Formats: sequence, C-alpha cells, structure tokens
Amino acid sequence: METIAILDFGSQYTQLIARRVRELGVFSRIYPHDARAATLADPEIQGIILSGGPRSVLEAGAPMLDPGVLGLGKPILGICYGMQLLNRLCDGTVVSATQREYGRATVEVEGESTLFERLDSRQEVWMSHGDRLEQVSRDFAIAARTHDGVVAAIEDTSRRIFGVQFHPEVTHTPNGRAILGNFLFAACRCSGQWTVDSHRERAIAAIRETVGDRRVLVLVSGGVDSSVTAALLARALPPEQVYALHVDSGLMRRGESAQVMQELSALGLAHLAFVDASERFLGLLAGVTDPEAKRRILGDAFIAVQEAETARLGLDGADVFLAQGTLYTDLIESGLGVGQQAVTIKTHHNVGTPLVRAKREAGRLLEPNAEIFKDEVRELGLRLGLSPELIGRHPFPGPGLAIRILGEVTADRLEILRHADEVFLQEIRQAGLYDRIWQAFAVLLPVQSVGVMGDARTYEHVVALRAVESTDGMTADVHAFPWAVLTRTAARIANEVAGVNRVVYDITSKPPATIEWE
Ligand code: XMP
Repeated sequence: METIAILDFGSQYTQLIARRVRELGVFSRIYPHDARAATLADPEIQGIILSGGPRSVLEAGAPMLDPGVLGLGKPILGICYGMQLLNRLCDGTVVSATQREYGRATVEVEGESTLFERLDSRQEVWMSHGDRLEQVSRDFAIAARTHDGVVAAIEDTSRRIFGVQFHPEVTHTPNGRAILGNFLFAACRCSGQWTVDSHRERAIAAIRETVGDRRVLVLVSGGVDSSVTAALLARALPPEQVYALHVDSGLMRRGESAQVMQELSALGLAHLAFVDASERFLGLLAGVTDPEAKRRILGDAFIAVQEAETARLGLDGADVFLAQGTLYTDLIESGLGVGQQAVTIKTHHNVGTPLVRAKREAGRLLEPNAEIFKDEVRELGLRLGLSPELIGRHPFPGPGLAIRILGEVTADRLEILRHADEVFLQEIRQAGLYDRIWQAFAVLLPVQSVGVMGDARTYEHVVALRAVESTDGMTADVHAFPWAVLTRTAARIANEVAGVNRVVYDITSKPPATIEWE
C-alpha cells in the first residue's frame, strides 16, 4: 500500500500531518525521527516528511536524521525543524533568530515551484519557529520568502527534496492542503487511493486471513472504539466465530448497558454475553474513597470477571483470539515504537491487562484499527451501520461513575448522580450542543450545603457540572454555555433530583485541573 512516512521530531503537529496526508487519500505512518534508512527503504514508502520539533538544530544532541535517508532517492519534505535539518545536512547554515516568529505571515513565491504549483505567488502561511536558514545549501533553490527576507521554502527538484519553514498541516495556512498535495502527487507521484473504505476492506481481509476458522472474543465497553471493532468482526467472520462480552459494572450512566446490548444484537452476532457485575463491584467499593484505589479495585475486578466469563464460555483456550479497539493514538502514546512521543500524562488503555499481554505474546491479539485515528474510526463505524448516537458519544472513563462520586460510592449516591447526569445531558442535547462538547457530565461532591425548599431548611448534596472542549483529552477548555442552559439545568436538578439542593459549574481548564475530578 502506498505510504508516506512521517518522521517525528517531537512536533505537537505530527499526528495532524499524518491525518492531513490521509485526508488527501494517501496512507501515512509515523516513525521515530531516527528510523534507519534501511527501514524507510521499504518500496511501499513513496515519500518522507520530516516533522517540526521543539528543539533547535543548533543544540548539542538535537534529534538527527539518519543521513542515509537522503540517499534513498525518495522525495522528502522537511517542515520547520525538518527543513533546517535538511539544509544543514546539505552544508547550508541555520541561525537562531533573536525572537521566535509565531503567527500568520505572508510569503512570496519565487519563480517555478513544485510545492506552490497552481497557487498564487503570494501565500498566507502559519509560522512557528525560533531558528531560520542563513546560508541556503547550494543544492536548493529558494522557492519562497517572507516579506522581511526569511527563507520560507526551498526545493531541490532533481533530488525531489523540499523544505518549508511554515506549517502546511495547520488550517491557519489556508493553502496548506494544496501544498501538501503538490508534494504527494507532483513530487511523490502518489495515486491517492486510500480511504476509510479501503481500510475497511483491507482490515476485513486481514481478519479473515489471521483468524481462519478460530474463534474471537471482543470485550465491548460501550465506547466507540470497541463497538466499531465488534462491528468489523461481525462483517468479517461468520457469526458463530465471534463472541462479544459486555460487563455491566453498575457504574454506567442511565440505560447505557441496555443500549450497548441493543447495538450489539443489531450487528447480528450469534454469541452475545452480558454479565451484570454491579453488586459485586459495589461491594468491592464499599468504604473506598481514594481515587487510585477505586481504579485499582475496579481494574482487578474487571479482569476477574472477564476471566471467569471467558472460562464459562469455553473461550480460555490458547487458540482463541482477543480483539480490542486500540487506536493509532493509543499506540503512539503507549510508546510501542511509533513516533517518539512516548511520554504521556496518564495511560488509561488496556495495553497491560494479563489477558491482553498473554494474547499479544501468543500472537492472538487482533487490533484491526490500530493504525487509524479516532475520526477515521467514527467514519468507519457509521459505514458499518452503527448508529450516529453511538458514534458521536462522548468518551467515558473505564471506572465510570465511580470516579465522579467523590468519596465513597454507594447505591444511593450512584442513583443521585445518575439522575443529575441524565438531566444535564438532556438539556445539552435539547440545546443542540452535544456535538460541540468533548465531554459533559455531573459530579457528586462529598459535601452538603444548606438550602431552602418551600419554607423548610434543607441540608443536602452539591452537584458539580463539567463540560469541556478538547481534541484529545490532553488539554481542555471549559465550554462556554449560554447562561440559560446552565440555569435551567441547575433548576431542574435541584427540583427533580431528590437529595440535591445546589448545583455549581466547574470553569477550570486543563491544565491545571484534569477533566475528571478524581
Ligand atoms: P483527565 O481526568 O486525566 O482525563 O483529564 C483525560 C481523559 O481520560 C479519561 N479518563 C479515564 N479513562 N480510565 C479511563 O478509561 C480512567 O481511569 C480514566 N481517568 C480519566 C477522561 O474521561 C478524559 O476523557
């Protein structure tokens, strides 16, 4: 499959570059910046993009490119740091600017240029850099400069090596897509056949070939990723080979487990297993208030239930595959040799349960979407017939409502939270805001406050509302609700949810707060 390799020099935009390339119809894969030339010699790789990065090429120990990459004869595009590196490797020089240039800039295209083919000679671009080219290597022609003379693009058309000082991958560069397209189609001669549909067909063929006539177990949490994996298996294999298991921890939102089972049965799977572990989980949480202890207890309990259920279904044999909804971002963040951004703030993913580890070691782990991004998985899910409501659902943490009840989790407190959460989500949907928000939920606080109802004084629970906008959950901004939505929600919760007399809205961004309260 024709592929563009993206070498990750630590830019915050590396994944965005990968997505842009795919939007243009070419599959992309992220590699560590120091990937060996021998690896990149793979004939499927039609071109190489060097990302930007936070370091300076002038620093000692700055991330380097294997110089052999230049000798592969493949087209290369260096972005920002990547361009500075190319210029240095070809005997040009780079200087530190006195000031970091950041923001919009206008560049003038000089003469014939592959990157700016069919574009006007004046282009708006987005810059973010400290260093700039001083002496441009003799291998390169200058293709564009900013108004104050900074080299903005270089080209060596004979070797098909290019560099841009600006960021074509961000939307602030209005013609960035066209510039990347010129690299992919004019320089790399890609055909642009990759789509989510082509991924689906390839994934289905791969599942069939890998699994043969063996059985597959898929654990469905109710989230988008595991549901899409189940839908893909349902499409790829005869129904009797696929076993879907959903565990109701009792910590889900109102009606959620029933909805999951409904979606699963619509897939036509023959083996749908449902375990109601709510009493067991609640029992284990009795008296527990520490957030990390809750996570640990629930994580262990999930594993125990899964093991027991797998054995009961006769799926504990070494030959049985386990499928999970790992995404490309999970792979990048878990540091499994993809890109260099291995350090994450928290890893919430199933990379490490004993079952997953054992299946991985035995070559019995199926992760059919491990090379696609969340938005691509959503598109795939829709094409596989899952409902837009399921596909558009906000992320929900594995420990569920347990980490949204501060302090001890009890059946009564769960009921209060579930009800308040339901009202909040109803109001958000009613206002048409659900899809603009990354996550919205209610939190039950471990305090009581004084209120007045009728003529009587009350002393009851406080609910906090949280709604944030984010692209990946790593950083988040508070959602700026129309005031009336908040006041209506507060009034409804205080009136309708027994035991609550006060509602507050959390207006903290992440950082410094996290999205969840625990
Ligand atoms: P924080 O609270 O760390 O959350 O800002 C970032 C994202 O991760 C989710 N989250 C979890 N997901 N198990 C999960 O599966 C967890 O223990 C967990 N803690 C937080 C959170 O909902 C948000 O999307």
